[in-house]
Amino acid sequence: MRSGICKVVLLTVSMLAVGITGRAKTVYIDELDTRFVLQDWGAPVVNKSIVGKPLRVAGKEYSRGIGTHSISRFLLNVEGKAKSVSGWAGADDGNDFICNMEFKVLADGQEIWSSGVMHRGMSAKKFNLSLKGIQKIALIVAEAGDGIMYDHADWLEVKIETAGNVTPEPVVPQNIVKEKYILTPKPGLSPRINSPKVFGVRPGSPFIYAIAATGERPAKFTASHLPDGLTVDEETGLITGTLKKRGTYNIVTEVENKHGSDSRIVRIEAGDKICLTPPMGWCSWNCWGLSVDEKKVKDAADAMNAYLFDHGWTYINIDDGWEAEKRDADGELHGNVKFPDFKRLSDYVHSKKLKFGIYSSPGPTTCGGYQGSYQHEKNDAKTWAKWGVDYLKYDYCSYSQFTPSPAESEIKEPYTVMRKALDEADRDIVYCVGFGAPNVWNWAKEAGGNLWRTTRDITDEWNVVSAIGFFQDVCAESTAPGCYNDADMLVVGKLGLGWGEKVHDSYLTPDEQYSHISLWCILSAPLLTGCDMGDMDDFTLNLLTNDEVLAVNQDPAAMPAHKIITENGQIWWKMLEDGSYAVGFFNADPYFILWDQSKGEEIQRKNYPMTLDVKKLGITGKFTVRDLWKQSDLGRFDSSFSTEVPYHGTHFVKIRRE
Ligand code: GAL
Repeated sequence: MRSGICKVVLLTVSMLAVGITGRAKTVYIDELDTRFVLQDWGAPVVNKSIVGKPLRVAGKEYSRGIGTHSISRFLLNVEGKAKSVSGWAGADDGNDFICNMEFKVLADGQEIWSSGVMHRGMSAKKFNLSLKGIQKIALIVAEAGDGIMYDHADWLEVKIETAGNVTPEPVVPQNIVKEKYILTPKPGLSPRINSPKVFGVRPGSPFIYAIAATGERPAKFTASHLPDGLTVDEETGLITGTLKKRGTYNIVTEVENKHGSDSRIVRIEAGDKICLTPPMGWCSWNCWGLSVDEKKVKDAADAMNAYLFDHGWTYINIDDGWEAEKRDADGELHGNVKFPDFKRLSDYVHSKKLKFGIYSSPGPTTCGGYQGSYQHEKNDAKTWAKWGVDYLKYDYCSYSQFTPSPAESEIKEPYTVMRKALDEADRDIVYCVGFGAPNVWNWAKEAGGNLWRTTRDITDEWNVVSAIGFFQDVCAESTAPGCYNDADMLVVGKLGLGWGEKVHDSYLTPDEQYSHISLWCILSAPLLTGCDMGDMDDFTLNLLTNDEVLAVNQDPAAMPAHKIITENGQIWWKMLEDGSYAVGFFNADPYFILWDQSKGEEIQRKNYPMTLDVKKLGITGKFTVRDLWKQSDLGRFDSSFSTEVPYHGTHFVKIRRE
């Protein structure tokens, strides 16, 4: 999490300087203002680890230093008057997991020291570096190939010998105000179907599939070739019933109004697999945190029905904060005073053609300190099925008391227990392994997850969103229909109580928000918006309702995404079911350090050229390109495609070979 740098007025910097010009002095970095450390989780802690425990590396305790978390940057101005910087660096022992990280020291933009890949258990590495003639140094903790999760990193006894001042500096430019801009034309009056092209159901479970379409109302919804057991409501487009037999059924859905009609073949797979396209919906956490209540959930359902449903948005998920303090005499879990009647609420959500999700933990308590499902798994799964729950986010939290230093198999165990319980319920419940453990993607599929959190909590800051999003190539190969890496919720629109004090408009710039949505679509990540949907401006609405962009997310093939690193950023691509490619050009810089703050505006106003040699996608010869945000064709090209991308922005296109 950003530690407030951008919010700190630069004027204070001079007052914080340590040292007296001309006289040699030793300055320890823990004496400096650590609000200038920019890191991608938590806030830096002086003389303690990131979680407030003594600084300890490979069994050795250190009395001073800074506990930080990757990706971490601390930019210091030494004014050309420092002799040296020295100290130790290492992965903190208090870390639950053996995670890889790399410490680096940069001087005036050049790397002068690297620790190599380090992880828990390795002794701290020593450095002693000359700073002769150097103006600025940056202390970096980089991600080292397995993502940033649990990279608890310690700078230990780090000191600068200087005859001048050491002044901590902001590492990123102050965001310039860029107007929000809308790229997408409004949908037409004629119908256009946007519901998933494939749907999985277990025989015997209630079948609920809504035909979603834009276009003027009234409209008539029909479905032909429906197998026995299913019927369609022509007014609402809801297809319901039960399928008795396993098998593949191709049905034809159709929507007609006075301007025209649209039809779509939908493949229904009746078998063991559900959730065959990434879930799209809303989760209460980012906006409301623990203050969620029944009214907020109903408002969310109304807003989703009014603004997003036609574009394929489906789930209304309550996160933590709904549970009663105690179970009843039969061990049954109820809602607290904020949720007097769950069946009533779930019926309300379903009456809006939406699906209903809930949250719990395998431990005795949830992350927010409410009742968890420990030793009540069967009961809880039954209760939820009775209420009409369609989605469960299951967050590890207090289970860690049973597994202080867990192996993957130990974390997996309680997830398998809940999977069994869900399997016995007579309802299809999408299962989110809601714990961002390192390598969760290696076991969560086997534990029966449909999606699994690959990260700790996201916040609406570019350094966090980019640190999470741009490392998802590590786990991309585990993406498949029914199996998704969950890069955490979307941070667009009005949100904030999940991690802060107030609801506010996303701190991401407009360009960063376009990048965020585009990347999550290429990743086939679940799209769970966390915003106040009753208070979306046109810009947010535009971000969440571009049907060509969303179709990339919902592509039935759910192919793994790939990353190509280029000079000005990263190009991400995935192949789509029809053989075309979704390609995102992103201006991204993982270290994200501005050595000269006076250049901040110039850098943010520039566009950055990027070129893709389409051989990298396996295309030779001619191809066509379509701009997905603008929904317009860009023409025919040969061998390569070049574009220009705004600072932290994206150009998101579809490429089709001829
Ligand atoms: C966290 C989780 C958040 C939210 C919260 C609820 O562990 O990452 O997304 O669910 O718990 O207490």
